[in-house]
Amino acid sequence: MSAQPTAIPSPSELDSFWMPFTANRHFKAHPRLLARAEGMYYWTADGREIIDAVAGLWCCNAGHGRHEIAQAVAQQLNTMEYAPTFQMGHPAAFELANRLAKLAPAGMDRVFFTNSGSESVDTALKIALAYHRARGAGQRTRFIGREKGYHGVGFGGTSVGGMVNNRKAFSAAMLPGVDHLPHTLDIGHNAFSRGLPHWGAHLANELERLIGLHDASTIAAVIVEPVAGSAGVILPPLGYLKRLREICTKHDILLIFDEVITGFGRLGKPFASIEFEVTPDLMTTAKGLTNGAIPMGAVFAQRKIYDAFMQGPESAIELFHGYTYSAHPAACAAALATLDIYAKEGLLTRAATIGQQWEDALHALRGTSHVIDIRNYGLVGAVELEPRPVKPGARAFEVFLKCFEAGVMTRQTGDVIALSPPLIVEPKHITRIVETLAEVIRVIE
Ligand SMILES: Cc1ncc(COP(=O)(O)O)c(C=O)c1O
Repeated sequence: MSAQPTAIPSPSELDSFWMPFTANRHFKAHPRLLARAEGMYYWTADGREIIDAVAGLWCCNAGHGRHEIAQAVAQQLNTMEYAPTFQMGHPAAFELANRLAKLAPAGMDRVFFTNSGSESVDTALKIALAYHRARGAGQRTRFIGREKGYHGVGFGGTSVGGMVNNRKAFSAAMLPGVDHLPHTLDIGHNAFSRGLPHWGAHLANELERLIGLHDASTIAAVIVEPVAGSAGVILPPLGYLKRLREICTKHDILLIFDEVITGFGRLGKPFASIEFEVTPDLMTTAKGLTNGAIPMGAVFAQRKIYDAFMQGPESAIELFHGYTYSAHPAACAAALATLDIYAKEGLLTRAATIGQQWEDALHALRGTSHVIDIRNYGLVGAVELEPRPVKPGARAFEVFLKCFEAGVMTRQTGDVIALSPPLIVEPKHITRIVETLAEVIRVIE
């Protein structure tokens, strides 16, 4: 399938949009403009077909151009474009929360809606603080994040996050009382592991060290991504998440899993917490919730957390938090249609079926020049390259650009090429993605 070329903006027409997380000057000199999408593919404004190896930005899990979602959103907008959810409600919000509660790990059946992953994270952090206060432990105010963690770009998420470039310009405004666990990436011990690495579960014990430093009675919550995505696909060592859970339970500290990337089938089960059999207290999601069609996020809470708020006079507001667009009707319609597609096409478990082919194809890149590690789980993958001397990230950025020229959209972070194709990916797509990557890596300096 091809696409008719669309009108391409002139260079000066690119000036006003200050692009997020983008090298603006480089982009505007060499624009990569996407104009249409269907299934596994994008088409550029000049009509080139690009295979999508990253589900947009880890969000279009059911692939592109899903007309069922577009129709559901259009129907909702034509019926009622907006309804507040402060002291009001609309049926789709309750239906969606009920559907999500059934998908979630046992007991996580209370759902708070947001509009993005960043808002989900800041919401979960605020719920954690307010929960402890509601049960008389208001001195628990510290958060523990993790080095190399990414939890969005709100001040809360930036504070618990651990990616230096996201933090350094804002260091004066980080939340006080935040500490970080060490990250779990260790190429020396774990290079080319297939699935979860075997070395590193003991790194979870660092939480005991931080508790020894601050005292458990001051700590509200620990937040980690079950699989860290943005820092370059960092997998939890076998047994690591279970150990974190044990330590949090022992010390009455809430465990928050940030499942913005891992939620909705990325690892072969609806959520990483189900796949890894470790249930957190709070779980943040977004992205795949609406297949990326409409911005929406959701925070899942254990029933005990919700119940802790349900005290005092019945007419009193229990949590002073929410967004104008929490449970926006169009977003609810998109999410319900997305969940229907996931159920009908078995997409929330498809990564488990095709994961072995994905793993084998990726690991066939071992031995290619510059490749120092390959990591994978479900339908996530990372190829890490040896950094160029004095120019960290430059080699992978060139690979990203050349792959795009060759018709494959990847994601570059540092010296890692990260991959997370739509869950509808077929073996022929995997072959094209990996072969293109191999050809590009082989010819670059
Ligand atoms: C784990 C994680 N948390 C939070 C976010 C932030 O989500 P958003 O960009 O929707 O605010 C992301 C985005 O990639 C993420 O990967």
